[in-house]
Amino acid sequence: MIEFLKAEQARGVSHVLLDEDARQGLRDLYRATAKGGKSPPAPAVPQAAPPPTVETPPVVLSVPGGGDKAARLAALREQAEHWQPARALGTLRGTMVFAAGNPDAKIMLVGEAPGYEEERQREPFVGSAGQKLTRILQTMGLSRDEVYLSNIVKFRPATPRQATNNRPPNPQEIAACLPFIHAEVAIVRPACIVALGATAAEGLLGLTAPVASLRGTWYEHNGIPVRLTHHPSYLLRSELDLTPKRQLWEDMLAVMERLEMPITEKQRGFFLPKSQ
Ligand code: URA
Repeated sequence: MIEFLKAEQARGVSHVLLDEDARQGLRDLYRATAKGGKSPPAPAVPQAAPPPTVETPPVVLSVPGGGDKAARLAALREQAEHWQPARALGTLRGTMVFAAGNPDAKIMLVGEAPGYEEERQREPFVGSAGQKLTRILQTMGLSRDEVYLSNIVKFRPATPRQATNNRPPNPQEIAACLPFIHAEVAIVRPACIVALGATAAEGLLGLTAPVASLRGTWYEHNGIPVRLTHHPSYLLRSELDLTPKRQLWEDMLAVMERLEMPITEKQRGFFLPKSQ
């Protein structure tokens, strides 16, 4: 492993992300060897012979250290195309949808996974939920080109006889793709992250409670402030209810305040119930 890391360093790679299995392996190794610790006890029963070794593609994501952000993100995108941990699940579709927007953005918005329209256009947030998000950004005075838009899962979750229907990713699909969003955050280093919905809450913050009970406060991911709010598709499902709209808007106002963006009185009053 040391030789591998040295070789990576020699070709300019400064970060290596490990998937959960590799992390667990290192934890076990550390526990077994740290401070005179004992090796793990030998298994009581004889182990089955290991399966024949087959050549497997790498599952360690290398995050390039050199070059500008766009070049480093392009190197990540290339790895996502062939990302074996996701492809091996067999539950995600084949088209990879990476990210869109500005690598130098102050605001990074993170959703769950591409849907039908995103897969068709190979761009995140272009379907009906994406159009809602675009309108929210415009209300904040921002265009899509000024922010960085990405998803936790880079492939559309598959369903039997799938047409235009989408489903949320499951925990295995989230875990398989998670190294990418973490690497994207490490490269973009936005001033603020907006986590949209439950999958983003789980992937970025490790939180699994309902968004409604978690939102409305600040969290942190790798030293970057995170505001968790409703997924825009939730607003589409409750079009007549002002409450989630106002809640999402209050989260966006909190982001604007934190970034010291100008806010008009009109903006402050959006989605408040009309006084009688
Ligand atoms: N929903 C998401 O979470 N991401 C997309 O890209 C589209 C819809």
